[in-house]
Amino acid sequence: MDSIVVTGGGALHGEIPIAGAKNACLTLMPATLLSDEPLTLTNAPRLSDIATMSQLLASLGAEVTQLQDGQVLAMSSHDIDNLTADYEIVRKMRASILVLGPLLARAGRAVVSLPGGCAIGARPVDLHLRGLEALGATLDLRDGYVHADANGGLKGAVFEFPFVSVGATENILMAATLAKGTTVLKNAAREPEIVDLAQCLRKMGAQIEGEGTPTITVQGVETLHGATHPVVPDRIELGTYMLAPAITGGEVECLGGRIELVGAFCEKLHEAGIDVEETKRGLKVARKNGRAKAVDVTTEPFPGFPTDLQAQMMALLCTAEGTSVLEEKIFENRFMHAPELMRMGANIDVHGGHATVTGVERLRGAPVMATDLRASVSLILAGLAAEGETVVSRVYHLDRGYERVEQKLGACGARIERIQAA
Ligand code: UD1
Repeated sequence: MDSIVVTGGGALHGEIPIAGAKNACLTLMPATLLSDEPLTLTNAPRLSDIATMSQLLASLGAEVTQLQDGQVLAMSSHDIDNLTADYEIVRKMRASILVLGPLLARAGRAVVSLPGGCAIGARPVDLHLRGLEALGATLDLRDGYVHADANGGLKGAVFEFPFVSVGATENILMAATLAKGTTVLKNAAREPEIVDLAQCLRKMGAQIEGEGTPTITVQGVETLHGATHPVVPDRIELGTYMLAPAITGGEVECLGGRIELVGAFCEKLHEAGIDVEETKRGLKVARKNGRAKAVDVTTEPFPGFPTDLQAQMMALLCTAEGTSVLEEKIFENRFMHAPELMRMGANIDVHGGHATVTGVERLRGAPVMATDLRASVSLILAGLAAEGETVVSRVYHLDRGYERVEQKLGACGARIERIQAA
């Protein structure tokens, strides 16, 4: 397995281009299953999770062609000849469950493996299933698979999510586009990825209103047609690279970054004494006045502070002046990066859903292990500011969600290299 070696100490200066959002792309890709005409995505990120979704769609009979070095995905679901999403692919990535709604809506039937366990908590898919049942589907769980039947066609309904779920909102929104009549989704997720999906579906002929608010209304249509859609910039990659100069000092411009994608996060950076400036090309971040200051952070659904930036924010707070409390409200067991950061000299006390971080003046490089996608990048960020060498192993997690991380940080002066496993 590859590892990444970071030698810390230097300030970062330069610019980093922000890729299309992994999480948006992972829901836009299954949308191809809704139509027999081509769907083309531009600004796609080049990541192993995208390759996994391509493999899953191909296993169902869709064609996925990568153009322009993988930044354009040309897809066609003209000939869907398999309605079973196999465990061998689904187990690699939870987002695979997002083929269930589209397959069911288009083909009337689907068999999708349950995603199984995950490093950051139980993460069930019950809301996805309850929403599809509300649209009239019959679901049978056996042998680790969901066997779904649309009983002659899905029907519009009012469905209220008991709590916000990004994936369940996406799955049911896609299914509702081809259901008979009107669907009203209440307490829907408001993430930019949902807005991006709704905009793409509308280009395909869907009738959707209210995306970005808690109530989304969908008027079902008979068929959807082809479209071309650019994937929204990745707000988590953006936030991650905004934290790099905040941690090391220096100044980095994140190209393509937009403030409305990271509003709550920017407020916390500001509180911590980090400068964020909107430029014509993106967002410029600088730490000019000594150490960052401690801030308290609570993760929440959008527009709140994203759980996917909690680990990286913790890396900043490890060397901030004072004591910060981080509260994780979306996932249980999402502080697995804390013991690794402590190996680097951080002072962190985890108690249930809270972590108290008392800033130290300097971290020290150490061998550490990545436990999940966002945890792995938080260790790289911490390594950039640490004294000496940090070796992050198990970086396959990183490759699921960050393209060319060594090149992007290296171009700003970071000393970072990948050691390929023999
Ligand atoms: C998506 C993102 C992930 C991000 C998360 C929260 C993708 C591919 N992944 O994950 O990076 O961290 O949103 O912003 O877009 N839950 C249930 N039952 C369900 C569904 C969810 O109990 O049927 C729970 C989850 O365990 C979690 C919470 O609801 O505690 C929120 O999860 P959800 O918003 O669904 O996250 P994902 O869509 O899986």
